[in-house]
Amino acid sequence: PMITFIRPDGGQRDLSVPEGTSLMQGATTQGLDGIVAECGGNAMCATCHVYVDEAWTERLPPLFEDEDALLEGTAAERRPTSRLSCQVIATADLDGLVVRLPDRQV
Ligand code: FES
Repeated sequence: PMITFIRPDGGQRDLSVPEGTSLMQGATTQGLDGIVAECGGNAMCATCHVYVDEAWTERLPPLFEDEDALLEGTAAERRPTSRLSCQVIATADLDGLVVRLPDRQV
């Protein structure tokens, strides 16, 4: 699926993220700035924080328990649309998903 990442300055990048891969992996392997992913996708660092576009929040699987707890410790403010991008797995029905990057991850 094609995922759109929007930077805080409004610039955007559309990346093709392979199915079964997390948004974090898809973004970092393609050189997207703005996702740090210190823990490498193990739901331990919260430096892969993104804001999911409101039109899409209902279409994602619910937060994992660990994810919910970690989101309490994000560097940028937590919002109702906050997710950890390492816990959102690309699937065909997420084609066109839009996520926004926070202004900082650490
Ligand atoms: Fe560490 Fe997502 S990469 S929590």
